Amino acid sequence: MRPPNSKANFGRTCFIALLAGHSLVQAATWPNHLIDELDANLYDRRGYKLRSLPAGMSPRCTRFAGNIPGGRTNAADWIRAAFHDMATYNIADGTGGLDASIRFPEEQNRPENTGDGFMNTIIFISPSSNRYFSLADTIAMAMVTAVEMCGGPKIPYRGGRIDALQPNSPGVPEPQQSIEEHIASFARQGFTKADMIGLTACGHSIGGVQNIAFPDIVPPSSDQSNPQGNVNFDSTGVLFDNKIATEYLDGTTQNPLVVGRNSTTNSDFRIFNSDNNVTMSKYPAVFRSKCAELLARMVDTVPKEVTLTDVIQPILFKPVGVQLIWVGGGNLALTGEVRVWNALPSRVTVKWKARDGRSDPAFSAVLKHDTSHTSDPLMPDSTITNRWLDFPSILISSTQSLSSLSFEVLNADGTTKVEDLGGAGYPLQDVIMVANTTCMSPTDVKVRFAIRADIQPIRVYAKTDMFDETRRPTVVTTEVAPPSNPTIVAGYTLWEVALMSASHLTLAVDTGGKTYETPFIGNGSPLGPSLPKCP
Ligand code: HEM
Ligand SMILES: *[C@@H]1O[C@H](CO)[C@@H](O)[C@H](O)[C@H]1NC(C)=O
Ligand SMILES: *[C@@H]1O[C@H](CO)[C@@H](O)[C@H](O)[C@H]1NC(C)=O
Ligand SMILES: *[C@@H]1O[C@H](CO)[C@@H](O)[C@H](O)[C@H]1NC(C)=O
Repeated sequence: MRPPNSKANFGRTCFIALLAGHSLVQAATWPNHLIDELDANLYDRRGYKLRSLPAGMSPRCTRFAGNIPGGRTNAADWIRAAFHDMATYNIADGTGGLDASIRFPEEQNRPENTGDGFMNTIIFISPSSNRYFSLADTIAMAMVTAVEMCGGPKIPYRGGRIDALQPNSPGVPEPQQSIEEHIASFARQGFTKADMIGLTACGHSIGGVQNIAFPDIVPPSSDQSNPQGNVNFDSTGVLFDNKIATEYLDGTTQNPLVVGRNSTTNSDFRIFNSDNNVTMSKYPAVFRSKCAELLARMVDTVPKEVTLTDVIQPILFKPVGVQLIWVGGGNLALTGEVRVWNALPSRVTVKWKARDGRSDPAFSAVLKHDTSHTSDPLMPDSTITNRWLDFPSILISSTQSLSSLSFEVLNADGTTKVEDLGGAGYPLQDVIMVANTTCMSPTDVKVRFAIRADIQPIRVYAKTDMFDETRRPTVVTTEVAPPSNPTIVAGYTLWEVALMSASHLTLAVDTGGKTYETPFIGNGSPLGPSLPKCP
């Protein structure tokens, strides 16, 4: 049994408070691909290198799958999908929970999962997932993105969910069930009666009931902008706000699960009224903080085998895609960027140590800021802008090479800071690296790379991402045969492999004792936004 983690009153104040003591947390290992991916999806929502989930909310949270007019929204589908994925949880044995099992047709075909919102959600969001960002983490991220971008509170986000390999047992509540059944269902999921009232109010702040899915609850519509006959739960259907509660309390609600003609399916009424309105009366005032807490608990309800990360805080100084590239002529190019949280320092200097650990005043370069390279986390109640700084063109001889990096930051206020992971420096391997002659041909991707000649490879392989037939991200591993005529150029041997896809391409060499791998680039290719075409 895994008690859901809850942090009470997680409003903006708490969020800022958590940011203080933050630099201690991130010193651990670098790079941490899971944390880097989660950070990018939470905090690069607009602008440079933005991640794709926020596009599902644009414009103004009205977007719906494929831009089909429907009176429906992705925001509503994503929030409902996260709940229905989680609601199979059984606190007694730790099975079920938020694990992307909702992607299986067997679950979607159950009466408790009526409607096409789950398939819509999976189709839209699955391309955002990858080998480090599970579909289950993506479902949780989509829920958080929808709530935060549609007017709701900041929700503390943890990652590390694992995608289920088979459907879970049924267990999602349905509107015609009795209040006793609902209380029992939420209790099995780990939620009290007050939690049930709150969570249902929070979820039903966005979206509504559709005639095509629930013809017995709401009537058909002849309105061309609402062909599916959607009736919103509150008067601000696309906004995450407390109107679901205030309209219920003041008697103006049109919520089809409160004032529907057939009282059998008025489940929201039975739920909201189940403690004589005690909980609901408090909700207009506590809506944002309670919803942040309950929705976080909802997505953190995971199978007992899963250990979630700590709440993801923004990485304040984030080197991205930092790597060596084989450019021929006995040279390595050092490329990469740094994302700096909500500030533009006066100067950031990268300094490196040679392969043998030597440093030298010449082993340094000043990063450049292209003013269009800014991203925005679109966090509720905040105006934060992140600046990205590019490495200039840096060529290093392959015999001298490089072993680690550090950064010297001169802030706008004149203070300085060294970013070096607490003294260790950011380690960089120079054993295997992609070559800039890697390119896309009409039939395949010609991947060229260099391996240090003093290394004895036991196994060399490429990893790319693909999606299985249920849209779960999986890794494809391709073994690479050694070159038939190996020639050593400036201490490196050149290798080549043709791949059908280069999605999230990384190259690895197993030396018996140790495996070296090229960096995982979360969006874009190892050589930039996309691979060049072959000449
Ligand atoms: C006993 C508890 C609940 C019942 C019986 C219930 C029932 C329903 C029903 C019948 C619909 C209409 C779906 C459609 O027409 O497509 C709906 C929509 C929705 N539900 Fe619930 N729900 C419950 C709790 C929750 C919870 C806890 C959440 C999330 C925290 C949630 C989130 C949503 C959302 C966002 C929609 C709108 C979907 C859309 O507009 O397409 N529900 N719910
Ligand atoms: C009310 O809804 C229930 C459950 O869907 C259904 O069995 C019943 O026939 C409905 N009653 C009326 C009068 O439509
Ligand atoms: C709770 O509030 C609703 C909406 O105002 C009302 O219809 C209902 O009678 C109230 N319940 C109690 C027990 O007062
Ligand atoms: C690789 O980089 C080197 C050094 O910058 C450059 O001279 C060469 O043209 C590049 N090759 C390709 C195919 O881009």
